Order: sequence, then structure tokens, then C-alpha cells
Amino acid sequence: MPGDPLRAKFIAERFFDEPRLVTSVRNMLGYTGTVRGRRVSVLGHGMGIPSISIYATELVKFYNARTLIRVGSCGALRADLRVRDVIVAHAAGTDSNVNRARCLGFDLPAVADFSLVRAAVDRAAASDIPVRVGTVWSSDLFYAPPSALFDRLESLGVLAVEMEVAGLYGVAAEYGARALALLTVSDHLRTEESLSSAERETSFEAMAKLALSVATIDEA
Ligand code: HPA
Repeated sequence: MPGDPLRAKFIAERFFDEPRLVTSVRNMLGYTGTVRGRRVSVLGHGMGIPSISIYATELVKFYNARTLIRVGSCGALRADLRVRDVIVAHAAGTDSNVNRARCLGFDLPAVADFSLVRAAVDRAAASDIPVRVGTVWSSDLFYAPPSALFDRLESLGVLAVEMEVAGLYGVAAEYGARALALLTVSDHLRTEESLSSAERETSFEAMAKLALSVATIDEA
């Protein structure tokens, strides 16, 4: 699941055998097909936790999807990250209330499926793609007002900020599905370095390929 529906189209056309468009409701393109003989689908998820929560829930509840993988971008917080780095998000915190709403007002651990984390790390190593495994922060605000929060998150070891992972992991917990997010650092929130759109496309393609190799592993 990429955020952008045109990236869903790109993934289907670039990597699927016999891709078939199965939905374009609200222009949120979804395709199904096979990759190395395994049935795989790709659907955009839009921006933010409410949007990904709806699409992820419907995939699991109505289409019996068991494994959901987000491929997206993020803004790095830490000095030891660079644009183009790939993060395997094994857990996500958030300023959204969705996971507390699920958990009677308390914190629900928003975590990735371990077998998918392990597969992503192993497949990345086999393809010589360096990855960082760590925590991310899913923010409701892209244009956030200046705050001390980013300093605090960085000192607590959070690698990067994005807008959907905690919602995806909450949906997965709710329905017993497996979920993972792979994120390319597209911007650095400290240095203000950012990828050009051409660079975003190349690094997105490598990450999408990694995600598909993880999506087609056998369920543990
Ligand atoms: N904030 C939130 N989401 C993002 C960012 C960011 O800085 N960069 C890429 N996705």
C-alpha cells in the first residue's frame, strides 16, 4: 500500500504479472495480480491515519487480506540518517487518538509483525539494501507548528516522522492481520535535505521491490 494511488498503478504495472484494475473509487486505484505465482494486490491508502485505517480495514474485513505492507516516505529526525535511507518501522507512536480509542483510553502497542520485520531485514541484506530497524512517529499534522516534541522524540530514539504507520498497526492488531511499513527517508527535518522527485522514484522502486519480496513469503 503506497499513499499515492499513482504509485499503486506503477507497482502493478512494473512488477505484477497480468495486473488487473479492481477499483478506482475516489480515484484510489487498486490492482490485483500475481508476483512469482503468488496472488498480490496493491491499493493506495491516501494521507493520514483516518484514510489508511479505512482502506486497511476494508482490505482485511471484506477482502480477507492477511498481510498489509505500507511503502511510504518519512522525514528523518536523527543526525545519523540520510535521505534515501530505508527504515523498517517495527513500532510507531502517534499524536493521534485512534489507538487509545481502541484501548479504553490507554496506549495500545502499535507494532509490526515480527515475521515480516525479519523477512524485510533478511531480504534487504540479500539484496545489499541497507536498512534501519526502529521506531517512527505518526503525526496527524504535516504542517506542524514549532514544538519541542521533535527534540523529545529524537532523544527517545524515534527515527522519523510520517503520518500513517500507527493507524495501520492498530488496524492489524484489531483484526489479527500482519502488518509492516517500509519507509524511505525523503526529507531530513534537521538538515532540510530532501530528495528530488526523480530520486524519490528510483528509491521508491527499490523499496517496492523489497516490499513485494516480503509480501510473497509464506505466512508463519
Ligand atoms: N512529516 C510527515 N510525513 C512525512 C514527512 C514529514 O516530514 N516527510 C515525508 N512524509
